Amino acid sequence: MTDETKRTVRAQFGRQARWYTASAVHRGSASLGELLRLSAPLPEARALDVATGTGFTGLALAARCRQVVGVDLTPDMVREARRLAADRGVPNFLLCLGDAEALPFPDRAFDIVACRHAAHHFPDFPRALAEMGRVAKIGGRVVLNDTCAPENPALARAMNEWELRRDPSHVTNRPPSELVALVDQSGLRVEAAVMTQVPLEFADWVRRSGVAAAEAAALRASLLGASADARSAFRIRLEGDTLRFAWDEIVILGVKR
Ligand SMILES: C[S@@+](CC[C@H](N)C(=O)[O-])C[C@H]1O[C@@H](n2cnc3c(N)ncnc32)[C@H](O)[C@@H]1O
Repeated sequence: MTDETKRTVRAQFGRQARWYTASAVHRGSASLGELLRLSAPLPEARALDVATGTGFTGLALAARCRQVVGVDLTPDMVREARRLAADRGVPNFLLCLGDAEALPFPDRAFDIVACRHAAHHFPDFPRALAEMGRVAKIGGRVVLNDTCAPENPALARAMNEWELRRDPSHVTNRPPSELVALVDQSGLRVEAAVMTQVPLEFADWVRRSGVAAAEAAALRASLLGASADARSAFRIRLEGDTLRFAWDEIVILGVKR
């Protein structure tokens, strides 16, 4: 099951790497600013960006740190990130292939460990958190950002069903309370948890994950036909023909004891 999920991740993101490079959501949602603020990077810091994708978070950290290493499971995403770093002339952003659940780095190697918009793809998220804590130095900052499900289980189920229909590599979005509890249980000291929102436009959201036209139409109808509670929780609305909605996001700072 775990290996199957990871094969699906590589296939899914391998197909879609070029859409991620162009994605406004990944380039700069409010969460990226919060992640940078909570990372509190110093010029001498060495940072790790786990599941770096096409490298937006890694590139932002590289402007503020001595060195950033980006690690990702999908070769095409790593290739795109490497190309972006070269195009932008960012020599202190290094890239490698690797699994968040078995990070290829020694203990206590990094001052900052960031992970953005990816934890919902990890089959064993507690293990990934343990790995992030392991490679952080004592006093180092682990900053986790992900979209989160509502606390209401029915709404959480609806969000996860939509995400899974859109992206077969989706595992689960968790509510904020569960994410904070898991960071705490991993042994990190939770020092901050900040909520933000990621505004989404339906056509861009399905294009980025390569959903076939018929399924995209069914998914659009499902969002538009959702309960009043769901439409309110996810801010689902039509502006002309354009379907817009938003997920909540959380940015959590855990400090290595
Ligand atoms: C939405 S993209 C990441 C976006 C990126 N962090 C950013 O800030 O723009 C999700 C990434 O998670 C990666 N991924 C999924 N499961 C992974 C795992 N177990 N280990 C490492 N990377 C993984 C995928 O290959 C994909 O590149």
